[in-house]
Amino acid sequence: MARNVSLLSFFFFFFTCAVVLLLAADVEPALVSSPPVPDGVNSTDQFIRARCGATRFPGLCYSSLAAYSGAVQQNPVQLARVSANLTVARLAKLSARVSSLRRHCSTTTTNAPVAACPEAGALRDCSDALGDASDLARRTSAELRGLVEEAAGSSSAAAWRVSNAQTWMSAALTNEETCSDGFEEVAPGSRAKADMTWRLLRVKQYTSNALALVNGLAGGGQ
Ligand SMILES: *[C@@H]1O[C@H](CO)[C@@H](O)[C@H](O)[C@H]1NC(C)=O
Ligand SMILES: *[C@@H]1O[C@H](CO)[C@@H](O)[C@H](O)[C@H]1NC(C)=O
Repeated sequence: MARNVSLLSFFFFFFTCAVVLLLAADVEPALVSSPPVPDGVNSTDQFIRARCGATRFPGLCYSSLAAYSGAVQQNPVQLARVSANLTVARLAKLSARVSSLRRHCSTTTTNAPVAACPEAGALRDCSDALGDASDLARRTSAELRGLVEEAAGSSSAAAWRVSNAQTWMSAALTNEETCSDGFEEVAPGSRAKADMTWRLLRVKQYTSNALALVNGLAGGGQ
């Protein structure tokens, strides 16, 4: 009798596991077993893929960071730093774009300022907001460098650095939102609006990913 019961509970346990696994497989295959590793993919790639899994745009995260596996070396702080650096680079490109759109505005609007360049105000605000975002992303990267260098230091100092990095990266995202908000008020139809909307979407995805990777350092994540 006792044996039948334990056999029964064994099968019940087995069955439950199978159901749980099937449900999990349906939601997220990676929970059940790691996906097959193609030939030539090394463990740093897998590390980057796993960390990127916790971001909102994992595909972009992996595709933009995989090329830096040499600098990353399976170090989550380095990964976050490269991601912050990429954000700085994207912001620099976007700021250059804003400058060129503003130049274009000022050369075409000497006669009819507002009609010819309805996005002039939004571009001016973006210029400031994106400059601030860039400074903040740079400060994040510098703070993370301190974290790499003091890997053996006190944990309260490390927690402080992570917290600063979180604050700055999330403030960078807020500045990018400010720029987006300004463009939302520009009437649809202008080329500059379409162009900026798309580019801002992209830069916000990079920033969001960098913030998520920084957030992943909090609470012993490193
Ligand atoms: C892992 O692969 C990347 C390219 O995907 C390469 O740059 C890196 O050097 C490799 N690392 C090791 C330890 O083989
Ligand atoms: C990040 O950017 C800084 C400044 O350009 C550079 O010195 C550093 O090596 C970069 N770090 C990584 C991990 O890419």
